[in-house]
Amino acid sequence: MTTAHHATAIAHPNIALIKYWGKRDVSLNLPGAPSLSLTLDGLHTRTEVTFDETLHEDRIELDGALLPAKKAARLVTFLDRVRQRADLEWHAHVITANDFPTSAGLASSASGFAALALAATTAAGLTYAPAELSVLARLGSGSAARSIFGGWVHMHAGAREDGTDAHAEQIAPVDHWDLRCLVAVCAQGPKEIGSTEAMQHTADTSPYYEPWIADVPQTLKDARDALKARNFTQLANVAEASCLRMHASAMAADPGILYWKGITVEVIHAIRHARRGGLPVFFTIDAGPHIKAFCPAEAEEDVAQLLRSVDGVLDVLHARPGRGARLVEE
Ligand code: PMV
Repeated sequence: MTTAHHATAIAHPNIALIKYWGKRDVSLNLPGAPSLSLTLDGLHTRTEVTFDETLHEDRIELDGALLPAKKAARLVTFLDRVRQRADLEWHAHVITANDFPTSAGLASSASGFAALALAATTAAGLTYAPAELSVLARLGSGSAARSIFGGWVHMHAGAREDGTDAHAEQIAPVDHWDLRCLVAVCAQGPKEIGSTEAMQHTADTSPYYEPWIADVPQTLKDARDALKARNFTQLANVAEASCLRMHASAMAADPGILYWKGITVEVIHAIRHARRGGLPVFFTIDAGPHIKAFCPAEAEEDVAQLLRSVDGVLDVLHARPGRGARLVEE
């Protein structure tokens, strides 16, 4: 083993304001529509990869525990792609840790596959441009393609069958607009249905899936305009619309998919009530019960207090615009 086969990377989760929900190709993880997100500092995944000729299989540790083969399969497939491109046969030792709950709708797959893409390619001796790295990360998880970049990010759906044009792009830097994201943790434990399976089920059985996909380009354009003008009210309206339309398409599947708990709905009402009272805040929700509340920096404490005041909210995590995936020196 040489240091040339070792690398460590950090990546942050990102939260989509214009949601990704549906694939045009399942095996290549090609999105059915574009999306728009903010990469978040404050939460992070750290992943260390060592390719080692003495290993007989990949060893993957997540948050201090060795992953059983079934759970490791998605990561082993990802490592296989990297090995194939680098013409490398060695197995890898991967140590990865999140400082936030894994697989509970807090976008751990996004930061996880972004950090893994950067650490594994570097450890394998490959040098990828950010857009190429974004394509690779997408193969692990659609939203991971966005976490390669910092700040405000547009994920292109692309048109090519091989997916080489389905990558993310930074459209505004980290310091463009100091919004804060507060996560109201609304339940414990992993989500009931993973996003890949849920997206497929929505596409296969929901009468609202096609209209949902058809609507995304316009909401994305509206969100880009709001972002450029730093127009909070316009961004609030379009982000809540995208979130509710995504969840509506899933709820209309057969049987319907419902990620929300009662407390999720309570927090939605609290946020809308506070906004009517003049507090600048809006919500978005991913494939889980938690609420992500966005607000300008100066409203952060008031929004934290609002979220904590709702009975049943277990915790409130704070995040701000963050940088893209990067290597760390040890
Ligand atoms: O990247 P995936 O396959 O875990 O899908 C993410 C889907 C949502 O978080 C619900 C929406 C999004 O755009 O991040």
